[in-house]
Amino acid sequence: MCATESTTRLWASELPLGLGTWRLGEDPRRRLAEIEALRDGLDLGYRLIDTAEFYGQGEAERMVGEAIRDVPDEVWVITKVWPSAADPAAVEARIRASLKRLGREWIDTVLLHWPSRAWSNPAVFERLATLQRQGVVRSVGVSNYPLAWFVTARSQAAAAGLELSAHQVPYSLKDRRVESRLLPYHRQHGDWVLAWGALGQGRLPLRPALLELARRLEVTPHQLALRWLVGRGGVTALVRSTRRDHLRQNWQALRLPLSEPEAALLEQAYPPRGELKLAIPPWPTAFRLIEGGYRWWLRRR
Ligand SMILES: NC(=O)c1ccc[n+]([C@@H]2O[C@H](COP(=O)([O-])OP(=O)(O)OC[C@H]3O[C@@H](n4cnc5c(N)ncnc54)[C@H](OP(=O)(O)O)[C@@H]3O)[C@@H](O)[C@H]2O)c1
Repeated sequence: MCATESTTRLWASELPLGLGTWRLGEDPRRRLAEIEALRDGLDLGYRLIDTAEFYGQGEAERMVGEAIRDVPDEVWVITKVWPSAADPAAVEARIRASLKRLGREWIDTVLLHWPSRAWSNPAVFERLATLQRQGVVRSVGVSNYPLAWFVTARSQAAAAGLELSAHQVPYSLKDRRVESRLLPYHRQHGDWVLAWGALGQGRLPLRPALLELARRLEVTPHQLALRWLVGRGGVTALVRSTRRDHLRQNWQALRLPLSEPEAALLEQAYPPRGELKLAIPPWPTAFRLIEGGYRWWLRRR
């Protein structure tokens, strides 16, 4: 996978499962073990890593850079720009800083991390389009956008000559809000949907239907929940684990047989509730406050 390939879209069928990196890089004492876990994932066959400049305030990106040092061309790396960067120059500076931390000459996918009024500036999309033409960024997408926000962003990007090709959203058996309107829209447009928190951020409720079916299929409940998710079609699941056994189980989950009636049993036990809405007020000030608070918390550890 190199920056000169003409295709900028990847499909969930090619990269059904990726390594998450939220909470990595927060504790220097865990640094080596966390890099090792990323390398374990690559050994097992994972070829997608999701990170963000926000995670560990740049440290997670540095660790991803170290983990992929020997195979930089073989891994699809996604990173995200935090929305306190409002003007095009600041956005470019942040992307170039990510690039440096990742130790690469290009980023495969850059996502705008959360919806913000600041991104509605056409000049931001124009700058992203320029970075894409320069080969610094292969593809651009967004994250956590309610449908109306996504549709607006897509047309603003298109006006700047940029295609928004990926959308990262919270999606798991526990949180099925994207199913009501976002997923049908993305399926219609052939977009790449990435599910974050694919195991409910470690808080997947283990309901009897999940436990019973997992027991019958001789798999773990988490494997079953993951298999259900990647079976939704067009969805790539992102999971974080620092345990090799969990990384292996998750990878093996891709190949589990799951019939439609079995999937339907799980869906009955975890019914969808509501639809995806704005989770953070869409103003740069809100994001600056969150970033400041997180930085303060990291320093105090
Ligand atoms: N775009 C966004 O705004 C956004 C937001 C949040 C996350 N993300 C991305 O999505 C990735 C995944 O989401 P997440 O990290 O929040 O949550 P997650 O992957 O749903 O859950 C992580 C938790 O699941 C546990 N786990 C993993 N595999 C397991 C298994 N086979 N059996 C039992 N437990 C297992 C992990 O513990 P162990 O380490 O003990 O295995 C960890 O505590 C993130 O890391 C990040 O890259 C993006």
